[in-house]
Amino acid sequence: MMDQRVTEAFDALRAHAAGVKKQHLRTMFEQDHDRFPRFTAEACGILMDYSKSRITSDTVKLLEKLAAAAGIEARRDAMFEGEKINTTEDRAVLHTALRNRSNSPVEVDGQDVMPDVNGVLAAMEKFTDAVRDGSRTGSTGKRITDVVNIGIGGSDLGPRMVVRALSPDASPELRVHFVANVDPADMHDTLQALDPATTMFVIASKTFTTMETMTNARAARAWVADALGEASVGAHFVAVSTNAKEVSAFGISTDEMFGFWDWVGGRYSLWSAIGLPIALSVGFATFKELLDGAHQMDRHFQTAPIGQNLPMLLGLLRVWEIDAMGSSSIALLPYDQRLELFTPHLQQVDMESNGKGVMLDGSPVVFGSGPVIWGSPGTNGQHAFHQLLHQGNRIIPCEFLLAKTSRSPIGDGHQKLIANCLAQSEALMRGKTEDEVRAELTRQGMSGEALEALVPHKLFTGNRPSITFLYEKLDARTLGAVIALYEHAIFVQGTCWDVNSFDQWGVELGKQLALPILEELTGGKSGSHDASTAGLLARVKN
Ligand code: F6P
Repeated sequence: MMDQRVTEAFDALRAHAAGVKKQHLRTMFEQDHDRFPRFTAEACGILMDYSKSRITSDTVKLLEKLAAAAGIEARRDAMFEGEKINTTEDRAVLHTALRNRSNSPVEVDGQDVMPDVNGVLAAMEKFTDAVRDGSRTGSTGKRITDVVNIGIGGSDLGPRMVVRALSPDASPELRVHFVANVDPADMHDTLQALDPATTMFVIASKTFTTMETMTNARAARAWVADALGEASVGAHFVAVSTNAKEVSAFGISTDEMFGFWDWVGGRYSLWSAIGLPIALSVGFATFKELLDGAHQMDRHFQTAPIGQNLPMLLGLLRVWEIDAMGSSSIALLPYDQRLELFTPHLQQVDMESNGKGVMLDGSPVVFGSGPVIWGSPGTNGQHAFHQLLHQGNRIIPCEFLLAKTSRSPIGDGHQKLIANCLAQSEALMRGKTEDEVRAELTRQGMSGEALEALVPHKLFTGNRPSITFLYEKLDARTLGAVIALYEHAIFVQGTCWDVNSFDQWGVELGKQLALPILEELTGGKSGSHDASTAGLLARVKN
């Protein structure tokens, strides 16, 4: 059951939305010259401009009331203090402890977790330094030149995204690759250019039972053993897992297993030893800067008043768009090619966290629940799907991420990137009226029926909301802060909707049903399926 105070807060937002929907953002800007300073906030070097959201000052007040009714601050504090807020798995939620650079004690079941966290960080540092300086070699004594991370979901997407984003910091002497898909094409294509003698595999799996990861890990093991002999395997494999028993059974010494804990959710694990490929790529000092940036955002989230708190504002504005204004998807649009994997990572963090149909007490969700997250970097997306953002009949709130300076400037490319990013949010907000279209066509020499026929096609309704995050440059510290900002905003949304943002039972059924189908494909007895599945299976077998 939804708490009565929360229900009332949502009802008030919806009633208020009916009035806001009658206004146009263009007019709001024309009438209020303070809209930009009023609706911007800044922390950790990130400026959040939410003035192009369909809101008034009353909206913010009503969202603050919702936050109070939903008890967001109390739940946030419970999370940071190690309470078992992941009730369906009876677990604490402490990815924040992994980046707790102030090292203040964090207790789970009366035990401070920080000594263990620091112990694993120290082991990661030692290993990273040894691989990078060439003292930790492969079995033949040759320097390691390539690292392949084998993992999937949270054991892949986060580190893969960060390695790509921080590529200017990467060592040119150590290339880091990622294999996730059980489709053998992924492994095949990655191994093609590699030499077993100079390749190190990181098997990253919290459970060490995930079908895709274990299948790929065994394929990699065979590749090394075939080339260098069975005795060489140990020198070419390390593991990142919570499951020491399965790691040993696979043949990896637990001395080279980097652990983490059940209170680290997969999609929140890049800050743990799952970040090992990041540290290998950019070095441990830069990995620590990533943690530092996230920790600064954690501190901001814990201490800033809601109206100046970036994760609170982002989460609440998304709830507003979804629950009161009727949006069901959000386009995440980094104007940064090196953030090309940011949206795929956030898809997991967001959609696995809040894609839920029931509230904490098991009753059906009453409000919202997770939106569809999609998008890709600008300016590429402008030449693909932005048409729908500008003229489609769905309003899709957009979130832009933009650096003031490029880490790899060439000519005036970055200025053009900035110009395009700012133009997109301006165009979405302003639109183009019929009068403006007519005037433009007239200037181009058109008139009469031909002009009138074209007007509706060239009309932009505008009033399409967006938020822009602007920061100096995409370095490790900023990236850490941006990721943490999004993690917490997702938590804020989940708290408003009263869902458990930290379990993921929805991924189970498909995994279960794949097992008997696999058995049938490999000669086992036929199971009972619906006609479609049975028909497709028969075709595959024939
Ligand atoms: O897809 C479900 C999931 O459990 C994710 O939450 C997780 O990130 C991923 O699988 C990988 O799990 P593991 O790290 O245990 O291999």
